[in-house]
Amino acid sequence: MDALRIEGGARLEGRVKISGSKNAVLPILCATLLAPGNYRFDNVPLLRDVTTLCSLLRTLGVRSSREGETLLIDSTAAVPNEAHYDLVRTMRASVYVLGPLLARFGHARVSLPGGCAWGPRPIDLHLKAMEALGATIRLDHGTIDAAGAPLHGGEIDFPISSVGATGNAVMAAVLAEGETVIRNAAREPEINAVCDFLTDMGAKIKGIGESELTIEGVSELHPADHVVIPDRIEAGTYLVAGAITGGDLHLQGIEESHLTATIEAIQRTGSQIETEGEGIRIRAGSEISPVRFETRPYPGFATDMQAQLMTLLLLARGTSEIVETIFPDRFKHVPELARMGGDIRVEGNRAVVEGVSSLTGAPVMASDLRASAALVLAGLVAGGTTEVTRVYHIDRGYERIEEKLAGLGARIWRVTQA
Ligand code: UD1
Repeated sequence: MDALRIEGGARLEGRVKISGSKNAVLPILCATLLAPGNYRFDNVPLLRDVTTLCSLLRTLGVRSSREGETLLIDSTAAVPNEAHYDLVRTMRASVYVLGPLLARFGHARVSLPGGCAWGPRPIDLHLKAMEALGATIRLDHGTIDAAGAPLHGGEIDFPISSVGATGNAVMAAVLAEGETVIRNAAREPEINAVCDFLTDMGAKIKGIGESELTIEGVSELHPADHVVIPDRIEAGTYLVAGAITGGDLHLQGIEESHLTATIEAIQRTGSQIETEGEGIRIRAGSEISPVRFETRPYPGFATDMQAQLMTLLLLARGTSEIVETIFPDRFKHVPELARMGGDIRVEGNRAVVEGVSSLTGAPVMASDLRASAALVLAGLVAGGTTEVTRVYHIDRGYERIEEKLAGLGARIWRVTQA
């Protein structure tokens, strides 16, 4: 099993190219089930989650081939086979095949994903949305069995904003008969990207980027080519890498407007962030100021950046407070950061961070994707050696992280453990 070994203390400097967005490309690839044919995707990140999804799509008759950052998909022979537990359990985003399969074939069988490292993560809202479009849902030995041919337009009122449920609902509604209105729709850039892609395929969606979406179902869609938007979470992680190492980094290939909340939070800690050329430049401040922040649906501060910003605040001069409103249990990184000298107290969905003057390297274990990014960030600045094990979590969502960080001056290596 691979681990990342980091010798802390290097100041990061230089340019880094941000990859395509994991959370945008996953639903978008599932949308190819909606119309048979050939698709070309550019700026596709080389990530384990993308490979896993291509494996899942292969079991549904969809072929893919890759050349660098270009992914070619042929969904001509797509079939509504069951999405099996062995793939779904490794990646919750697999549930995104539900809406497209149901809309196109009138039937879908998708294994129920189950919990994840930081909590139960239900999919009830996905299922309610399918029911609102006329589907009948049955749970059959751990597998969701959804039927409804054809789907019809409906009213979907989400009680809370859900990225996944919104994506699934939109992908089902585009081929339903009649009009669908989705209220309290997620407004994350990744959802807008899905809607833009569906529009290019011939879907009729009004209100993209707003919390109410109106979809006029069409009888048929057609393939389209697509360039994946930049990954705002990877970008935010590199901003923290710059801030925590006292560095000076230039991030390229980003969409600055997607990063507003992250930039604002990191600026409040004392770093300078400015637009420069076609990217942004971060220059770390001389010290880190404590801040209070809470995670919120977009355009608020992303839960996927919570662990990384917490790592920066470990070294702030004073007390910071973090409130996690999206996933109240998402604090798996806390005990590992504490092993490196972090002083963090968790009370319910709130974490209080008392700044310390330094961190020390230690063997630590990655528990999930963003938690592992937080451990790598802590390792960059900790005295001595940090070894982050179970690095497969980080490979799910960060492309060539050790190469990118080493290119900026970090002392980081991938090691294979017996
Ligand atoms: C997506 C992202 C994930 C990110 C999260 C929140 C992908 C592949 N994953 O996950 O990286 O952390 O958005 O920005 O894009 N909920 C329900 N019932 C449901 C669905 C969700 O109660 O059926 C709740 C969740 O428990 C959570 C909240 O809704 O409290 C938001 O979750 P959601 O936006 O759905 O997260 P995901 O789409 O799973």
